[in-house]
Amino acid sequence: MDRRQFLLSSVGALVSAVTAKTGLDWRGKRLSAQETRIEEMVRGPSITLRSLADKVGIDIGAGGINTVPFYKDPDYKKIIAREFTSLTPGNAMKFGVIHPRNNYGDERDYNFEHADAMLEFAEASKMKVRGHTLVWHMQNPRWLDQGNFDRRELIQVMEDHIRTIVSRYKDRVFAWDVVNEPLTINHESIPIFQGIGPEYIPLAFRFAHEADPSALLFYNETQAHNLDEKSNMVYEQVCNLLDEGVTIHGVGMQMHVSLRYPPNLVQVAKNMRRLGNLGLKVHVTEMDVKTETIDSSTEDKLEKQAKIYGDITKVCLDEEVCTSIATWGVTDRYSWLKEFTKNPEEKPLLFDADYRAKPSYYAVKRKIAERVVKI
Ligand code: G3I
Repeated sequence: MDRRQFLLSSVGALVSAVTAKTGLDWRGKRLSAQETRIEEMVRGPSITLRSLADKVGIDIGAGGINTVPFYKDPDYKKIIAREFTSLTPGNAMKFGVIHPRNNYGDERDYNFEHADAMLEFAEASKMKVRGHTLVWHMQNPRWLDQGNFDRRELIQVMEDHIRTIVSRYKDRVFAWDVVNEPLTINHESIPIFQGIGPEYIPLAFRFAHEADPSALLFYNETQAHNLDEKSNMVYEQVCNLLDEGVTIHGVGMQMHVSLRYPPNLVQVAKNMRRLGNLGLKVHVTEMDVKTETIDSSTEDKLEKQAKIYGDITKVCLDEEVCTSIATWGVTDRYSWLKEFTKNPEEKPLLFDADYRAKPSYYAVKRKIAERVVKI
């Protein structure tokens, strides 16, 4: 955020602080007691997203936690512990990172260092942990992608992987993204899926459930939040899994959206509802809102972004089936999108590159505060 934005947001904070104090809004209009209480919660410097989320019983997650800043940037861990109720490692639990070797056939094949460090930090900060992810078509180790395993061997590899990791974090990881983006690949291109076939999905859920019966098991997909062909395929797949007696507890809607392609709120709500009617939970698992997709002033982009974050927060609060909203990253400084879009100007998250709260942060807070006053 440049100097002008910073001044604007500071003025906004000042105005709201005065409002909270005087009970008058910036036009001098008297606020109701409820409106004044909302302003106090939205702008109160000691009132955090986490404290409000706890009051309404929703999980506000810090997802996509990057390993390097986790170790190197003290402000990173500070804001995670202050503002969020759960943490999802961005890479530390992925196959290629946590299971880099296959030459011992025992725990020495694994590298738990970073996942353990994030678990310990989360527990010390009284936060929950979402495990991400047990099976995906990306970030797999070379020994897996290039191994000439037959189907029986691949099932054994996947079973050992899932049982080793899920049992290690038994009763410590509250929810797992068991399969990630299973509809975003063509099975023929990826060995572990090519070798096993679509049955890898029910098998992965079975292995995970047997390793930790208390963990919530999720099917996590991207670009399947609206009502469309892809979300219909997700719906059909989870219906089939449930019909086969597979233990699956929920669907993750990643919610990687943009100012150019915002989510369709009515469709997202209907999509959540139909999953809820199956007895499933919904987690918004990886929300970010790309800004550099329209031509407008930074101020206008941040306001439009804030509306999207606020709207999705309200949909999740309104739809009981939605019990968690996580962003994918916490500060614009480390968003994966800067690398992915090759645009250093991307500002997709709730905090700017200097850890200052953006309009999106206040928009999320406001929706939760509006729910708090209704309790
Ligand atoms: O760890 C290596 C480092 O040793 C090396 O020097 C560096 C430069 O090549 O790369 C580092 O690995 C990078 C890794 O992030 C850790 O920073 C990989 O190149 C990079 O591809 C990887 O990107 C991750 C991306 O998934 C991979 O597709 C992002 O951090 C991560 O946020 C992103 O997350 C995914 C979710 O898991 C699933 N949903 C989509 C989401 C965005 O792609």
